This record gives sequence, structure tokens and C-alpha cells, in this order.
Amino acid sequence: MVFARSCLMRTRTPSVLAGARRGRSALSAVGKSTGKFFVGGNWKCNGSTSSISSLSECLNSVEWDTSLTEVVCAPPYPYLPYARSCLKPTYAMAAQNCRNGVGYGAYTGEVSPEMLVDLAVPWVILGHSERRSLYGETNSEVGEKVKHALAAGLDVIFCVGESLEQREAGVTMETLFAQMEALKKEVETEEEWSHVVVAYEPVWAIGTGKVATPEQAQEVHASLREWLASNISNSTSASTRIIYGGSVNGSNCVHLASEEDIDGFLVGGASLKAEFGDIVKANEKAKEEVVQK
Ligand code: PGA
Repeated sequence: MVFARSCLMRTRTPSVLAGARRGRSALSAVGKSTGKFFVGGNWKCNGSTSSISSLSECLNSVEWDTSLTEVVCAPPYPYLPYARSCLKPTYAMAAQNCRNGVGYGAYTGEVSPEMLVDLAVPWVILGHSERRSLYGETNSEVGEKVKHALAAGLDVIFCVGESLEQREAGVTMETLFAQMEALKKEVETEEEWSHVVVAYEPVWAIGTGKVATPEQAQEVHASLREWLASNISNSTSASTRIIYGGSVNGSNCVHLASEEDIDGFLVGGASLKAEFGDIVKANEKAKEEVVQK
């Protein structure tokens, strides 16, 4: 892990909504979720005891208003207890995956949701695009995993996203709605929905330095919120956190956090660096900037 500030470039890709519908439907909840701003650090397959110890020292010096922002770190499975012991308690822990099922048994190489609950890991990331593309997880498998994770008592960061080809072919929202439909099939009650955070992560922006512009991300987030209002309920639409992921860093986070429907971030590369502290405080900074205007 390198502690360095990096400045990633921005590129433009087309608007997802032909004729860019900026207004909101009567059904949609307006503005940010009623929940806390949510910042997740996805460490992916990175880390060692020594790098986690140094990163924790750095992250433990970050102070933020915990009544406004909730922060979760997701180390690889074997480091969950070690990272828990190094990080201050205001950082909650997440796993990056869990098995598609509940209970224990003859599933070599798998980790059950109950094990995470037993280790006091409250969150799990499911449906990350790397799981979908590298390990062939389908929409319906991801939906089922969410059901099992919720049944075991976990909270879920559910990832959706379109590839560059899908965006350029004009099927971004169709792709995302199909991913959301698979979730709707398995998540039945509003109570269950209250344990789900939706992470919009355009595949073309993950680990590439090509961050979505705040306007691009806002446009998709607003459409996802409308989908929740039309397909689940107005209250779920108003309370569900819809977070953005894909090349978020210390330089672009405040601008992104200022967008109406961006309720937080899922951060990969920058979550291993000191700048994660800036991302944790992006929401407070964005609010301050509004007050100063
Ligand atoms: P990135 O990854 O911030 O490195 O683009 C985001 C993610 O994969 O969740």
C-alpha cells in the first residue's frame, strides 16, 4: 500500500438518458437519502499485517462527525479480525463476498454469512463487478446471495454497474434495472430493504482513473431512486443510500458529494491511501461549501 495523493483524470462518456430527463417524476423522492452519508473502503485483494497496521495508524487519526457519516472498511477475509483490532471502532467492517446460502457444511473454500456475523462483521459487499466479470456471478445469483446475507443478519452493499459497451450502446439503465430486478425478486420487505445500500459503480470507471462526472453519476442515481419509488415504495426510495464507486479520490469526492442523489461512496484504490480520510470528510466539506455560498 502506498500512501500518496493521486489526482485522477476525468473523461466524458455519453448521457445515459436520451434527451437527458433532468426533472423528477412525481413518484421520486427528492434529494439525498434520509440515512447517513456512507463511505465504504473496498481493499480488494490487497494488504498484509504490516500494511494494515500502517494504514490503520493513518486512518485512526481521521476525525469526522459520526452522526453524519458512516464508514466501513472491507479487508480480505483473513484480515478481518486483524483489521478490526487495528482500526478504531468508528470504522465498521465489511466482507467483500460470502457464500450463496446459509449455514455451515461441506462447501470447501466458502465463507458463510453466519461466520461474518459471528466475527462481528456487520456488512458484506455483494455483486461487485469484479465478482460478476471474473467469477461469473449472475444477476440471479447475486440476488440470492443478498437474500441469504440478510437472513443471516448482515447489511449489504449491493453493487450495480454498466460496462463501457453497454453505456455506448445506450442500454445503461436497462442493464442497471435488470440488476435491480434480480434484487427485488429476493428482497421482499421494506424492513429488508432498510439493510441494503445500493452502490452504482460503472465498470468503465473502476480502477481506471476515468471517474464519472458528478452530472453523469447524479443522472443515474436519480433514475435508480425513481426505480425504487416505482418498484418498491416511496419510503424505500427516500431512505435507501445510493452510493457512487469508480475512481473516487481525495480530489473529486467533494464535488461528487455535492450532488443531490449521491449518498456516499464505495472506494477501491484510494481506500488504501491517506486520502481516504479526505473522502470520509467529503460530505462535511460539501455541506460547508453550501453554507459559504
Ligand atoms: P476504484 O474501485 O475506486 O479503485 O475505482 C472502486 C470499487 O471497485 O469498488
